[in-house]
Amino acid sequence: MKAIVYTSATGFTEKYARLLSEKTGLPAYELAQARSRLASDDEMLYMGWLFAGGVKGLKKAQKLCTVKGVCAVGMTPPSEQNMEQLKKRAGWSGDGFFVLQGGYAPEKLRGLNKILLNKVTGSMIKKLEAKTDRSSEEEEMLEGLKNGFDGVSAEAVEPVAAWLQKQS
Ligand SMILES: Cc1cc2nc3c(=O)[nH]c(=O)nc-3n(C[C@H](O)[C@H](O)[C@H](O)COP(=O)(O)O)c2cc1C
Repeated sequence: MKAIVYTSATGFTEKYARLLSEKTGLPAYELAQARSRLASDDEMLYMGWLFAGGVKGLKKAQKLCTVKGVCAVGMTPPSEQNMEQLKKRAGWSGDGFFVLQGGYAPEKLRGLNKILLNKVTGSMIKKLEAKTDRSSEEEEMLEGLKNGFDGVSAEAVEPVAAWLQKQS
C-alpha cells in the first residue's frame, strides 16, 4: 500500500486520514494532490465523505490509481445494514470497505451542499422536536443537528489501521 488518498468538504474525513497516516506511517494526500504523487498502478486506501449514499470522489480515485480499500465517512453512526447498502452502491465486493462516523459542521458548508444538508437536518429536527418522550440519545442528536457535532474518534480507525497493516 502506497498511500491514503482522501476528499473532505468540512474536515472530518481529513481528520481520519491524518489519524490513519500517523498510525500506519503511510502518507495522506488530498485527491487533487495525489495526481502528481502517485502512478496508476500504485495501491491506495481511498477515503471520501458520504454524499446521498455515495462515496464522494471514489470514481475519480479509481481512474487515478489502484484503490485497494475504501473508507466512507458519513454523518450517522455506522450499522451493519447501512454498511451493506453503501458497499453495494459503491460497487465494492470483498473486504477492505469501512464506514466511519464523521460529523456535521454547518458553518463550513457552502452553496448547494449547505442547502441540501439543511433540508435533511431540518426535517430530522422537526421530527425529533415533535417527540415529547425523547431519550437522552435523541436529545444529544437534536443538539448535534442544531449546532453541529464532531463524531471523529481515534478508536474508530483501529480496524482500518489493522487492515492496512495486513496489506503488503
Ligand atoms: C449534500 C450532502 C449529502 C450528504 N449525504 C449523506 C449521506 O447520504 N449519508 C451520511 O451518513 N452523511 C451524509 N452527509 C453528511 C457528510 O457525509 C458528513 O457530514 C461527513 O462527515 C462530511 O465529511 P467531511 O467533513 O470530510 O466533508 C451529507 C452531506 C452533504 C453536504
